[in-house]
Amino acid sequence: MCVICEFNQAKAEGFANNLLEIYNHGALSLMISIGHRTGLFDTMQSMKAASSEEIAGASGLNERYVREWLNTMTVGGIIEIDEKSECYSLPAEHAAFLTRSNPADNMAVFAQYIPELAQVEDNIIDCFKNGGGVKYEEYHRFHEVMAEDSGQSVLSSLIQSILPLVPGIIQKLEQGIDVLDVGCGSGKALNLMAETFPNSSFTGYDLCAEPIEVANREAMEKGLTNISFEQFDLTHAKAARSFDFITAFDAIHDQAHPDKVLRFIHDSLSTHGTFLMQDIDASENVRNNMEHPLGPLLYTVSTMHCMTVSLAQGGMGLGTMWGTEKAQRMLKEAGFRKVIENRLEHDPQNCYFVVYN
Ligand SMILES: C[S@@+](CC[C@H](N)C(=O)[O-])C[C@H]1O[C@@H](n2cnc3c(N)ncnc32)[C@H](O)[C@@H]1O
Repeated sequence: MCVICEFNQAKAEGFANNLLEIYNHGALSLMISIGHRTGLFDTMQSMKAASSEEIAGASGLNERYVREWLNTMTVGGIIEIDEKSECYSLPAEHAAFLTRSNPADNMAVFAQYIPELAQVEDNIIDCFKNGGGVKYEEYHRFHEVMAEDSGQSVLSSLIQSILPLVPGIIQKLEQGIDVLDVGCGSGKALNLMAETFPNSSFTGYDLCAEPIEVANREAMEKGLTNISFEQFDLTHAKAARSFDFITAFDAIHDQAHPDKVLRFIHDSLSTHGTFLMQDIDASENVRNNMEHPLGPLLYTVSTMHCMTVSLAQGGMGLGTMWGTEKAQRMLKEAGFRKVIENRLEHDPQNCYFVVYN
């Protein structure tokens, strides 16, 4: 039966207004990223209300650009302007979520993903037409932004809240065990663990040379002798060593073949070992993600990064929103016996799977 609906004018106008709001917020994301990278938010946090000349002077930046940025931030409700003096200020309540002095809460870090993804738009459009994927090398700053992201969301809670999700692991790490981090990126989490637990040994594997170099540099600067990082493609890895504890922070869903990597992890775990997998907390069914607080952002990140980097390696292209249901199934198919899901208050984006052989 063909149903012809009447055109709802109010619905159409409401939608058009929504679109305008979406474009305003998209534009603000770009300017928040600039405020973060130039240090403008940090400078303003330590200043009283000031003119654009004073703010530009204190930041060592060009006044004309700073003034335009300040006006954008003002109409966007991020910065306030005094009606009489026309001086700009960053309210303390906003600075709490935009500055480096609050590393655990600095949401300005995440704004950087918008320009980072936009930079590969042409490549992604080409993939829409011809299939295939975009390689890691095409992204200018992905590993840098990712390191900042996990330096904040993982590091701030790793020792206090994340590791204690695995019963007894702190004690074992203190005594001395072998640990592997899969898809370690710039090695922030592993370097912190190696520093905190000097009796244990730590190994990090990642596909890309750039983050491995950063990870090695940090380990050297910290004088760590119980850690090694290797550039290693996990796609066809076969278990050659045994580890007591394996971690993967946001690094399974964007693998070329997550099924093979999970099997590799299963086969590399010692008999009483544990696998801790931090990955996206969402459903494999889009209808269950309608109220997800980061739904549109995460599907976009999937299309323009996680799914496409996997497809570029000839992989499955699982995508960011593979869902906890599919994660459970794939972990069981890889041979794991028991999977426990945990959620942490500081991290609404992820689920923490504690997995046993
Ligand atoms: C989203 S990043 C997470 C990085 C790091 N765990 C963190 O939290 O900062 C995923 C990582 O998986 C790595 N990766 C992707 N495919 C890989 C493969 N085939 N073998 C090894 N590592 C891979 C990427 O290079 C990237 O550093």
